[in-house]
Formats: sequence, C-alpha cells, structure tokens
Amino acid sequence: MEKTFAIIKPDAVERNLIGKILERIEGNGFRIVAMKRVLLTLPIAQGFYHVHKERPFFKDLTEYMCTGPVVLLVFEKEGAIKAWRELMGATNPADADAGTIRKDFAIDLEKNSVHGSDARDTAAFEISYFFSQTEILS
Ligand code: CMP
Repeated sequence: MEKTFAIIKPDAVERNLIGKILERIEGNGFRIVAMKRVLLTLPIAQGFYHVHKERPFFKDLTEYMCTGPVVLLVFEKEGAIKAWRELMGATNPADADAGTIRKDFAIDLEKNSVHGSDARDTAAFEISYFFSQTEILS
C-alpha cells in the first residue's frame, strides 16, 4: 500500500478546517496511519522545504509555515501520492479544479491550506522527516 505525507497548513488550522479536510481524506478512501498537531520552528521548516531553498518564495514560505500550528499526516491507499495531489488541486488555488481542497478552502498561493508529497522519493523523505517508524501504524 502506497503512503504519502501531508500537512494541513496554518491558514486551514486557524480557520478550524482540520475536520473538514480529514473528512475529505477519509471520504476518498485513504487510511490515516499517523497524525500530529505541532508548531514548526524555522530550522525545521527550512529543512523540510530544502528543495526550494534557492526559490524567491523560500523565506516567506518557511516563515509562514511557522505562524501557527500545522497538522502532519501520513495516509495510505493504492496510488496514494497521485491521488492526494489530485484531491488537493493545483498549488495555486486560482488554478485548482472544482471540488478540490485548494479550490474550496485555500486563500492564495502561500496560504494554500495543504501540502502533499509529489513523488515516491519525496514522500519517503517527508514521512521520515517527521515520523519515526513506531509512530506509523498501518
Ligand atoms: P507546497 O505544496 O507546500 O510546496 C511549496 C509551497 O511553496 C507551495 O505549496 C506554495 O504554498 C508555496 N509557494 C509560494 N510561492 C510559490 C510559487 N511561486 N510557486 C510554487 N509554490 C509557491
């Protein structure tokens, strides 16, 4: 069973959208196998988004991710990585399809409510960055 990693970002946590987003995840056939609500520190956010460190939005992105609690999640189903990206919708909510989480809940490109791994290698890195093996209960 394929696992993917997700974050419910500060804008969504702040607006009490955790339950609505988890409902979409479970309603679309994913099984949540690990979850925690935490406040990221800047070094942790910078390490997580290290692939973007040369991008002009890196500073704003990493600072934004520390503005309030986030929910870290691992969930699984067949083809979970692609399926979660489809359920999230395009990175910029202005481009997201109807019925996707970002179309329905996101505010803008930065406050886009959710993150998801984009490939198997990034999913493996992102899961292990936040969760130990003993915290993932399939
Ligand atoms: P996420 O899926 O968490 O991965 C990187 C994040 O950077 C992305 O969602 C956006 O919230 C944020 N971001 C800000 N500006 C841009 C941009 N110009 N292109 C892509 N991502 C951006």
